[in-house]
Amino acid sequence: MELKEVIGRRRSIRYFLPYRPVERDKIQAILEAARLASCAVNATFLRAIVVQRDELAPEVLEALKTPVSALTLDLAPVHIYFYGDLHALQRSRGQTLKELIDVGALNATHGWSYKFVDEVVWAQILEPLTRDPVRLVAAVAVDCGIAICQALLTAFDEGLGACLSAFEPRRAKEAFGVPDHWMPLYAMLVGYPAESWEAGGQRPRPPFAELYFEGRYGQPFHRDPAVVERLKAARMLQAPAPLPWRREEVKMLARAFGLPE
Ligand SMILES: Cc1cc2nc3c(=O)[nH]c(=O)nc-3n(C[C@H](O)[C@H](O)[C@H](O)COP(=O)(O)O)c2cc1C
Repeated sequence: MELKEVIGRRRSIRYFLPYRPVERDKIQAILEAARLASCAVNATFLRAIVVQRDELAPEVLEALKTPVSALTLDLAPVHIYFYGDLHALQRSRGQTLKELIDVGALNATHGWSYKFVDEVVWAQILEPLTRDPVRLVAAVAVDCGIAICQALLTAFDEGLGACLSAFEPRRAKEAFGVPDHWMPLYAMLVGYPAESWEAGGQRPRPPFAELYFEGRYGQPFHRDPAVVERLKAARMLQAPAPLPWRREEVKMLARAFGLPE
């Protein structure tokens, strides 16, 4: 599938075929995509623990649930618990930037050298960042979000469905032996969808003009209808939810799973 179509087809899938396992190679592909994501300082903050739902003790599965993620945790056969490593920057001490210099990604043309990394980037920017928890958490969260997004899109490209979900971090830490310096993020719940791939259509978003500006705040970025048409043709922009049959689909799913309608 082309990238634009993958973006267009992705929906948060919350109904999975609970009995159908996910092939190990597809899970690996998801993790490979996360690993390739652009990352701040090239320090790679994202960590993941892959868990097969059926290998969790029933009381652990229960304990991982939150009010907004209980049923989805039950239905998804694979859970990928994502964390941000708060020590990644400290450990790197700029070394990961020097690796980028070594391979010609960061060059003297842009002022890069080992000396610049040590004396400016590490000493003046990154080392102070390691001592500023608010800014550090913001940087790690953005970094991990980008990698998780690549993982999420790859799941759909592999023919799977997925939904990011909150989980109960204390119980997860205990159950999976998570180190203290890993910041809990979200779990990606993965499986074969029990709902149609359209899942009722593309979900609502605020109008384009309310989100994006040109030059200054308050001046909307002009949304060219010709571009909208091009993206529709590429299947990135698709029919908005709700598709006319969505209510019936949800009813059918509720009956199949014995859930309230
Ligand atoms: C960081 C993040 C956390 C989310 N957490 C949950 C969650 O705990 N439970 C849930 O049902 N959906 C969760 N979602 C899914 C969103 O609610 C979803 O994006 C929204 O329903 C819009 O639909 P779409 O993803 O299908 O476009 C999360 C999404 C993101 C990006």
